[in-house]
Amino acid sequence: MSKTIYLTTPLYYVNASPHIGHSYTEVAADALARYYRLKGEPVFLLTGTDEHGQKIAQAAAAAGQEPQAFVDRVVGTFQSLWKTLDIRYDRFIRTTEPAHITAVQELLAQLYDGKKLTRAEYQGWYCTPDETFWTEGELATAGAPSRAGTSSPPHAERGAPGSVAGAPLCPSCQRPLESAKEEGWYLRLRAHEDWLKQFVRQHPQFVRPETRYNELKSLLEQPLPEYLCITRPKSRVSWGIPVPFSADHVVYVWFDALLNYLTVPRYLERQRKDLWPPDVHFIGKDILRHHALYWPIMLHELGVPDEQMPKTIFAHGWWKIGEQKMSKSLGNIVDPTAVVGGLLKDQPYAADVYRYFLLREIPFGQDGSFSEEAILKRLNTDLGNDLGNLVNRTLSMLDRYLQGAVPVVPKDQLDILGDQIVGGAGAEGRRGLADAAESLTETVQRAMDHLEFSVALEAIMGVASRANQYIELSAPWKLAKQPGNERQLKQVLGVLAEVLRIVSIHMEPFMPSVARAIWQQLGLHGEPARLSDARWSTTVENRSIAKDHPVLFPRMETVG
Ligand code: MSP
Repeated sequence: MSKTIYLTTPLYYVNASPHIGHSYTEVAADALARYYRLKGEPVFLLTGTDEHGQKIAQAAAAAGQEPQAFVDRVVGTFQSLWKTLDIRYDRFIRTTEPAHITAVQELLAQLYDGKKLTRAEYQGWYCTPDETFWTEGELATAGAPSRAGTSSPPHAERGAPGSVAGAPLCPSCQRPLESAKEEGWYLRLRAHEDWLKQFVRQHPQFVRPETRYNELKSLLEQPLPEYLCITRPKSRVSWGIPVPFSADHVVYVWFDALLNYLTVPRYLERQRKDLWPPDVHFIGKDILRHHALYWPIMLHELGVPDEQMPKTIFAHGWWKIGEQKMSKSLGNIVDPTAVVGGLLKDQPYAADVYRYFLLREIPFGQDGSFSEEAILKRLNTDLGNDLGNLVNRTLSMLDRYLQGAVPVVPKDQLDILGDQIVGGAGAEGRRGLADAAESLTETVQRAMDHLEFSVALEAIMGVASRANQYIELSAPWKLAKQPGNERQLKQVLGVLAEVLRIVSIHMEPFMPSVARAIWQQLGLHGEPARLSDARWSTTVENRSIAKDHPVLFPRMETVG
């Protein structure tokens, strides 16, 4: 059975509606999945929601709802945003699905039966917003400020979880931690340290980009905590999957959620043996530790051999708002629904503009800054001036000079064409545009292989700009005025139409509706669905552009 490319996103917490950060991971994963589909490769995109744990239980209580009713409501905000953003996933998993719950219990029982779990008491610090436990050792390594007025040795604190004056801050989100002492079930971490170090050394692609791989290597230079507690006492957190062999416990939310990557191919989609191992786990850099330390160790304990480990965990950067971190308390959370349905409401392809902005604005893997000005700038310049203008000019000229007929210029005529039309630009102008359009296949592939979405988009838009220059150089309006130039005029407009056809195919993973619109305005049937069609046409066909070709990206005044 041939392998299907298996891509995953994190399961988003449903304590609140989605924000720009969630949409970023989702759009990136969707763009890669669409790209593989365009190439004709089998691909499976898994996404979903993380619905258990203390944080969700607290949010439900604050909303005055039972947890299940609460998550049933909030999950809808994610699903409807994915619809708005044209996310084409193959499976949406909710961790409250009965089949996932049974699967997690089965895997847990497997670990228990295999004597992989230890029962003990743990002592340390808990971050509820991150649902993450920190040992004193980890806090010391992360350089967290120590508590005022205590000189207790590690693990000396006692008592139920709760805020403590002078509590250390969470190394990940910088919020105060709560002291926690709980009895539970543990997975061994340190026992697998040597194995993990070697695995990571031997698999430089395991974590990408390189900065995150190096971060993982330096995390591994410190000793791993002895254990990971994978349960929570029911007395404190009741909203979780019951532990089959321990009536007083529920499963730790991260343990439950990480297993989704395995429960889906192994239990929920029983026929999908072709999925494992995952090809890319898309995550944000804040959850690298869970994915690159805990997850492989969990799999290792479950008996997954090294060659069946996930291939790549790609940890992308963080969106800031202007120069600030996005947070509820600062009141600066960017709601994608408000951007698409508010700021961009007059745009016919608002969702695509948003998708384009996310993937073009910052190199995937680095941090970036969101602002309304930035999105409008991308809209007016790249999309309006370059792509939109090219479509508009080409279609209008086809309309005006050739009554909408699209001439097809076979490749072997392009040399003559180039010499005649772009004579002034010499050899460089010759076939340059056609070659640039055709070479997109290779350039985009190279970029997509490394998840360099901004590089792929830059190359595609570069061809659009070049086509605009070609219009200036060849000045079809002059050719139209001078008798005897009909053949040349036809060729110029034919070249432009062909470049646009190729560009629209490459645009599909990023801006699916825009790509379809260009395709249909060019009078082509169906949709830009095959990358193999991104070659210069060799056959002559009779085709006319669509009657209507409304402007794709109406210009918007920048705010402020
Ligand atoms: N539930 C866990 C993931 C479990 S996966 C088995 C979780 N959920 S989350 O909702 O908090 O975050 C989901 C994703 O959104 C993460 O990849 C995170 O990095 C991303 N982002 C959250 N805020 C972000 C920004 N401000 N910028 C970019 N992405 C960020 O973690």
